[in-house]
Amino acid sequence: MALSKRRGFIFPGSEIYGGLGGFYDFGPLGAELKFNIKQAWWNDVVRMRDDVVGLSASIIMNPKVWEASGHVSGFSDPMVECKKCHQRFRLEGETSSWACPNCGTDNGMIKPRQFNLMFKTNVGPVEDTASVAYLRPETAGGIFINFKNVLDTMRVKVPFGIAQIGKAFRNEVNPKDYVFRTREFEQMELEFFVKPGEDDEWFKKWIDMRFAWYESIGLKNIRKTEQPKEGLAHYSKGTTDIEYEFPFGWKEIEGVANRTDFDLKAHAAASGQDLSYTDPDGGEKFVPYVIEPSAGVDRIALAILTDAYNEESERVVLKLHPKLAPFKAAVFPLLKNKPDLVEKARTIYKDLKKEFMVAWDDRGNIGKRYYAQDEIGTPYCITVDFQTLEDDTVTVRDRDSTKQERVSIKELSEYIKMFL
Ligand code: GAP
Repeated sequence: MALSKRRGFIFPGSEIYGGLGGFYDFGPLGAELKFNIKQAWWNDVVRMRDDVVGLSASIIMNPKVWEASGHVSGFSDPMVECKKCHQRFRLEGETSSWACPNCGTDNGMIKPRQFNLMFKTNVGPVEDTASVAYLRPETAGGIFINFKNVLDTMRVKVPFGIAQIGKAFRNEVNPKDYVFRTREFEQMELEFFVKPGEDDEWFKKWIDMRFAWYESIGLKNIRKTEQPKEGLAHYSKGTTDIEYEFPFGWKEIEGVANRTDFDLKAHAAASGQDLSYTDPDGGEKFVPYVIEPSAGVDRIALAILTDAYNEESERVVLKLHPKLAPFKAAVFPLLKNKPDLVEKARTIYKDLKKEFMVAWDDRGNIGKRYYAQDEIGTPYCITVDFQTLEDDTVTVRDRDSTKQERVSIKELSEYIKMFL
């Protein structure tokens, strides 16, 4: 946490005003990291596939969306209140044996009450019940209500999916563990529509494909865990979580759920629209089942930062997969008071910048510059020295092995891209 604040990955939200519980801001490097995670996901789930299309729906939708989906009546957490200090807590375990985490009073909790997690707002100038709307608690809602639009406008055939990345909001009773559980976060969700009866097979396939994606971005210490039937969300026939071993335990970073035909049927009934699908080949009409891999960008960012963090004897190094690293390379002139070196290094920096994110550093000695780049996970440091002026080669220093090799300037970009 200290490193991520100091080096511009994550800042407490509204910090100059004393913060706001459950909100964080991603700094310049955190924004790059998140962007790279989202891009890796979008490439894998949307662009590289023929059977998935993208969507970018509104955050605020007609409140009927959340009535039909069951979120107005059912998206709540049980909450207990301390009789003495009146602080409220999310119910975790048995209330009778609870000591208040705030004031320590034993067995002083008032019975659990349900607390809806959706943020409410009003649309338009009048604040009354007719103008109430919600900030979406999951991006999925926007996908279901556009199912027919996508079907009518794109040449898609079941099985196919609609994917979306965007903000979601939950008024969590107990935000905790840094950016693991916050009140505003980003989701990357896919609703994959399949023929009923083929859902179990697709469910298994998506669990495996999603797990393989985490491996492809270099995340270690992950596992799959099937959720117990009694803990399932109101729409789910089965859910398998992909979990990461955080310092505070094994926790979900993504849930893959079989949402059945719950949502399409619920929205069809509430809107009066036909949300069924007619097979263009056999003419068979049915309401598709939905397999939903749903991941949180902020949680993945936290897992990646935690996993990449290494303290070695002399240095702290973030061993980020090059695909995710905020900067792919850093360019240094050996000495900053030698115009020839600086000019050459500047040219290399500008050329590489056209292709990927590159950092520039000409302060202090080279060793310090290496350590500064190690801390933010830059995979390659490129130094322009006197030999460069003679033979157009530079030294490239590898972050993980700290080994250096000479590479010709014209091969630099290919050399780095090989690892992205
Ligand atoms: N549409 C299904 C859905 O929203 P979920 O398990 O409630 O399912 C999916 O959320 C993912 O969204 C989680 O695995 C997690 O990565 C992320 N997420 C959920 N609540 C979060 C919160 N309060 N803070 C950060 N990320 C959260």
